[in-house]
Amino acid sequence: MASTSPSAGPFLLLLLLLLGCGQRAAAGTEELVFAEAKGEVTLTCWNVSAQAVLVEWFHGEPEAIPILFSSDDRLPSDARLSLVENSALHISGLRLQDEGNYTCKEMLLNETVHRHRIQLLVTSGPEKVDVNIYPTTPLPNGTLYAKKHDAINFTCTSDSRPVPKIEWVFSPSSSGPEVFTEVNSSLTYFVLSPMMPSYQGNYTCSATNPRTGHHKAVTQELLIYYPPPSSPRCWAQTSTENSKQVQLLCSWPKGYPHPTLQWTNKESLNWVINATGPADTSMATLDGSQRLHGKEFVCRGSHIVMEKANQACTVQLEGPSILSDGLRSCFIGEAVTMTCELTAGNPLAKITWLRNLSQPETEIRSGGRFLISQKGNVSTLLIQNCSSNSDSGYYVCKAENPLGLREVYIYLTVNDPVNIAGIVGGIVVFLLLVILTFSGFLLYFGPHLCLKANILRNQDAGDILVLVDSEEGEVLMETTEDCALQQGIALANGHSTWSAKGPRAEIPDEIVLEETKGEARPST
Ligand SMILES: *[C@@H]1O[C@H](CO)[C@@H](O)[C@H](O)[C@H]1NC(C)=O
Ligand SMILES: *[C@@H]1O[C@H](CO)[C@@H](O)[C@H](O)[C@H]1NC(C)=O
Ligand SMILES: *[C@@H]1O[C@H](CO)[C@@H](O)[C@H](O)[C@H]1NC(C)=O
Ligand SMILES: *[C@@H]1O[C@H](CO)[C@@H](O)[C@H](O)[C@H]1NC(C)=O
Ligand SMILES: *[C@@H]1O[C@H](CO)[C@@H](O)[C@H](O)[C@H]1NC(C)=O
Ligand SMILES: *[C@@H]1O[C@H](CO)[C@@H](O)[C@H](O)[C@H]1NC(C)=O
Ligand SMILES: *[C@@H]1O[C@H](CO)[C@@H](O)[C@H](O)[C@H]1NC(C)=O
Ligand SMILES: *[C@@H]1O[C@H](CO)[C@@H](O)[C@H](O)[C@H]1NC(C)=O
Ligand SMILES: *[C@@H]1O[C@H](CO)[C@@H](O)[C@H](O)[C@H]1NC(C)=O
Ligand SMILES: *[C@@H]1O[C@H](CO)[C@@H](O)[C@H](O)[C@H]1NC(C)=O
Ligand SMILES: *[C@@H]1O[C@H](CO)[C@@H](O)[C@H](O)[C@H]1NC(C)=O
Repeated sequence: MASTSPSAGPFLLLLLLLLGCGQRAAAGTEELVFAEAKGEVTLTCWNVSAQAVLVEWFHGEPEAIPILFSSDDRLPSDARLSLVENSALHISGLRLQDEGNYTCKEMLLNETVHRHRIQLLVTSGPEKVDVNIYPTTPLPNGTLYAKKHDAINFTCTSDSRPVPKIEWVFSPSSSGPEVFTEVNSSLTYFVLSPMMPSYQGNYTCSATNPRTGHHKAVTQELLIYYPPPSSPRCWAQTSTENSKQVQLLCSWPKGYPHPTLQWTNKESLNWVINATGPADTSMATLDGSQRLHGKEFVCRGSHIVMEKANQACTVQLEGPSILSDGLRSCFIGEAVTMTCELTAGNPLAKITWLRNLSQPETEIRSGGRFLISQKGNVSTLLIQNCSSNSDSGYYVCKAENPLGLREVYIYLTVNDPVNIAGIVGGIVVFLLLVILTFSGFLLYFGPHLCLKANILRNQDAGDILVLVDSEEGEVLMETTEDCALQQGIALANGHSTWSAKGPRAEIPDEIVLEETKGEARPST
């Protein structure tokens, strides 16, 4: 910023000389003069009388030191010295060793008539300012970076005569500058600990020569780096522009600067997939195909301040698979629901419902008597006001992702209410048979604590109906954990959650949907 301007030298010198005049000791025999190194100075032997015959100059005390210069034509030993107006001593190319006490003696006929002493102080600098911020690492553009939480020592040194005034000024990126330290010394330091992102900014050390006002400053940009706090996260999604393309996404946010993220194929790790993305996210696009099924992709992240090995996350692609009801039935005028659950698929598959009455199959959309809803991975098709001629037949649940598609057919029977009695009777007989078989089966294969407990507690027909009718009945037997949960629920509700639905047993399918979905789903 500020530097020693060479043209200012002589002017300043003059000023200093005048200043020196003002500071002359009252005795009239002593004087203090400042002059800048490499510059020049004229030391005046004040009050030399007009009759002066001889003026002698000494560096030091006249008694102790040989004569430096005299006006009686003796040649100076040093070419930098000259006599001005027969009495003043002029020194050019000032050096630091020129500093000291000068005495001039006015001689009149072998007799000293006057003596004047001048103390010359040579000022210099600041020539340079050295800044050391430790521990830090330089970036190619000269900017330094420090790690968050480290203790950083900011040291600044400068050479100047007399001792400089040094100050550290911090200019954060956001707000105005603030002075950290200000000392009259050639070295100053301060320690910031722990380093925080808010300490990022420009640090300026400036040194000022208190005598000459000459000023020099060095500014150092310091960045505070820190790695992302968590691990990178990977996922796959279907491209919004092209439903046949898979997008692999990898995100590793909240680090500074942004990390480097690289997608690779797990089988050939050095084959890097081209990826784009803003900063802390990397996106690779692949053309979807059956061949990608089961393939794993790895995203590796690295960060400049992480000593540890790279962090990685993996994504495995798979085609969709679904689980659905096979058969459904409804009564004319009533409502019926069909469900279809996604059990696999990465990227997440999209579920659509189709009717295969016509060719090509037509997609069913929500509206009128149809309502399609999706909750989590389960898509539900609700048909209100069943009518026998138009609604019965095959329905298709289709799950599709860029790797492929899966379809499941569901057959809907629409029953005439006239036959209810017969149907119900048939069902009841059938179910009783099944119950008997089932109970025998249980007794034979040894007690399964949970099921036994449930059966013993809930002895009314409604409960047993549900247990048996459930299409996911096998799930109930899977783990004792599930049993415990169900028992807990049964106990909490006093009597039984299932028996509460007892009166609706004539539409058992509905109960199955509501009861088994919530509690007995495996936690995959
Ligand atoms: C020079 O002499 C005058 C009187 O002649 C005196 O007032 C003045 O203080 C002297 N200056 C110095 C520097 O001795
Ligand atoms: C010059 O004189 C002053 C007193 O006037 C003294 O303090 C100083 O030490 C002297 N300097 C040298 C180099 O002799
Ligand atoms: C000056 O004085 C010295 C002794 O004090 C003497 O030797 C010398 O001759 C004198 N010079 C003159 C020019 O008077
Ligand atoms: C120096 O490089 C770093 C990292 O590339 C950047 O953040 C910073 O702004 C650069 N500084 C200057 C002054 O160009
Ligand atoms: C900071 O650095 C300076 C110069 O290297 C050193 O003298 C000082 O002891 C250091 N201070 C701390 C607290 O490390
Ligand atoms: C430091 O100063 C330079 C130049 O004025 C500026 O471009 C840069 O953004 C500053 N750095 C910070 C972190 O404020
Ligand atoms: C530095 O010296 C100047 C005068 O030389 C004085 O005014 C100032 O208070 C001093 N500063 C410190 C921090 O000692
Ligand atoms: C990846 O990018 C490079 C250049 O950016 C290009 O030459 C290459 O064909 C790309 N590879 C693929 C598979 O897109
Ligand atoms: C949906 O299925 C996917 C696998 O296809 C699974 O990762 C996800 O956790 C499931 N979501 C819910 C809410 O069950
Ligand atoms: C409807 O689905 C059934 C069962 O797969 C199939 O046999 C029948 O051919 C399909 N009908 C039409 C019109 O596609
Ligand atoms: C059910 O359908 C019948 C005939 O299609 C119609 O008359 C009746 O209004 C419908 N009821 C509802 C609730 O939509």
